[in-house]
Amino acid sequence: MSKALDGVRILDFTHVQSGPTCTQLLAWFGADVIKVERPGEGDATRAQLRDVPDADSLYFTMLNHNKRSITLDTKDAMGKQVLETLIRQCDVLVENFAPGALDRMGFSWARINELNPRMIVASVKGFGPGPYEDCKVYENVAQCAGGAASTTGFDDGPPMVTGAQIGDSGTGLHLALGIVAALYQRNNTGRGQKVLAPMQDAVLNLCRVKLRDQQRLERTGVMKEYPQYPDGTFGDAVPRAGNASGGGQPGWILKCKNWETDPNDYIYFITQAPVWGAICKVIGKEEWITDPDYATPPARLPRLKQIFAVIEEWTMTKTKFEAMDILNKFDIPCGPILSMKEIAHEPSLRKTGTIVEVDHPTRGKYLTVGNPIKLSDSPTEVTRSPLLGEHTTEVLEQLGYKAEQIEAMRARKVI
Ligand code: COA
Repeated sequence: MSKALDGVRILDFTHVQSGPTCTQLLAWFGADVIKVERPGEGDATRAQLRDVPDADSLYFTMLNHNKRSITLDTKDAMGKQVLETLIRQCDVLVENFAPGALDRMGFSWARINELNPRMIVASVKGFGPGPYEDCKVYENVAQCAGGAASTTGFDDGPPMVTGAQIGDSGTGLHLALGIVAALYQRNNTGRGQKVLAPMQDAVLNLCRVKLRDQQRLERTGVMKEYPQYPDGTFGDAVPRAGNASGGGQPGWILKCKNWETDPNDYIYFITQAPVWGAICKVIGKEEWITDPDYATPPARLPRLKQIFAVIEEWTMTKTKFEAMDILNKFDIPCGPILSMKEIAHEPSLRKTGTIVEVDHPTRGKYLTVGNPIKLSDSPTEVTRSPLLGEHTTEVLEQLGYKAEQIEAMRARKVI
């Protein structure tokens, strides 16, 4: 079957997590992704957090599926020539080097545009233009600078980062969308363009509702769905909201039957207004259906803590899965707190290809997250990540290099 991005060739100059997430997605949609790595060492993540001696780490393998790898010293004159050939023959160059690294290498936007006016140059940087534009940035820096950390956690605790890699993988997703949009525009204009996804901006985009709340707070001085209401105080910035829901339907994480021994026997419970009657019946509080202190959403807001405490008395009599079964019968929105262990073994995720088992020549079988975006006419088949330089000869031959030229490069340690 054909793939959505058949015929698109990507010069993948990415490393660590943000850039590789982006190019992996493009590979899953069918693009030919050629990962360019430094001879001898390659992407630093190959050796980071290793769990099998001498094998590529899970950090690397799980971010670089369906790609080809070539080694190339792009600071060597001969290597630069190969890079020029790649730029002429590819559609997109994706990079997430430190600010200015590509320019220092001699490949400014102007130079790339001169070599291939159709080329799209897509970059992840920590920050956009401004005081921090020259900074090197990793995941948690972006979470802190993008508004996530100040709004995550509990009111009486310090700022918190989240386990979801919204700075790295979140920015990679944003960049992938920018690239696909630029490819589409190129169909009409014939021109390439620069695509920039700063990590701070991507995190802020994902924290959009908190900027919404900042403005609500400035206007009214109070946010009634936050746990600080009605007993606590609000300052002049959006506070951390614990496990309160980000929207208009109040929710909280509640203990379930085995919470004392199982750190994940909890459920997220949403007191959605249309099913309030059903909630009251399930937890045995039918009088709340008509009691004016509980019957309407505005009446409930100052009593949320007490309401959730009563609901929790009920959830603590069930495991999270028993509670799910009962609540779902009444369309009450709720979610089990699933551990990574439970997710890894969840049959439905295996069936849809969101959790995939992959075989690797040096590390053996491992689990990975497959393509979370499902295209009916462009299915994804996850194939293992490449070994360092596995496709160097193959790609150079495709680019038109002769065996003796490739040998000369090998002798000079350019590849
Ligand atoms: N051949 C020769 N040199 C190469 C090369 C190759 N194939 N690939 C990379 N290099 C060089 C670069 O040109 C650069 O050289 P320079 O410093 O002399 O200009 C050098 O390797 C290191 O690149 P750099 O990006 O600075 O790596 P780092 O390990 O010091 O920093 C980051 C890592 C992630 C902090 C940094 O790349 C960064 O801030 N990136 C943008 C934000 C980002 O994506 N962060 C999230 C990462 S998940």
